[in-house]
Amino acid sequence: MMPKDDLRIVPKTSLEPMPERPSLFDFFRLRFSRRRPELPFAPAPHMAQSALRALRSGASEETVLACLLHDVGLAFMSPDHGWWGAQLVEPYVSERVAWAIRHHQALRFFPDPSVGYEYPPSYRKIFGEDYLPEPYLVAAYQEARKHRWYMEARLVTLNDEYAFDPQAEISLEPLAEIVGRHFRQPREGLGFDASPVAHMWRSIIWPGRPL
Ligand SMILES: [Fe+2]
Ligand SMILES: [Fe+2]
Repeated sequence: MMPKDDLRIVPKTSLEPMPERPSLFDFFRLRFSRRRPELPFAPAPHMAQSALRALRSGASEETVLACLLHDVGLAFMSPDHGWWGAQLVEPYVSERVAWAIRHHQALRFFPDPSVGYEYPPSYRKIFGEDYLPEPYLVAAYQEARKHRWYMEARLVTLNDEYAFDPQAEISLEPLAEIVGRHFRQPREGLGFDASPVAHMWRSIIWPGRPL
């Protein structure tokens, strides 16, 4: 276990070397804390705030983990980040957590007054006042609405909406035990375990490699 101070999220502007066998939290500290030029924010503090909010609300450990990982796709890809992110963590989390990450993206476009989720005002700016979600997003939403895990993805969107405090000082420490219990960290390190997604983690380690 690392000392507690090492679990603080500090904004990064450069690519620092990663350990030989990087853990999920190494990625949070050394890669997800960096804002890609295309993004308005770095994924790590946003995801951690979302997870801490879910934790305070008494959500289940799996929901907290889904919130912690929900925008992990944004570390390397913006379009369809829900699908990319779910694929990236699928070998290491439960099917339910991956499902929630995949579907949160579509659910963000569709209000659910029964739980107090409204269309995000920021989306009016990003997509325009008249934007209608594309048919594949509508289809993903409709599929999710009927699914037994609907509320799992909906809780991600609920905690997502309020997790954008750029001033907050954040530590992953309160989340360490939940990650230890529910994220199957490979012994060889993420990117080096010969899983079907290892190449995706390596691309995050070395985003500037020419080949
Ligand atoms: Fe998202
Ligand atoms: Fe988010």
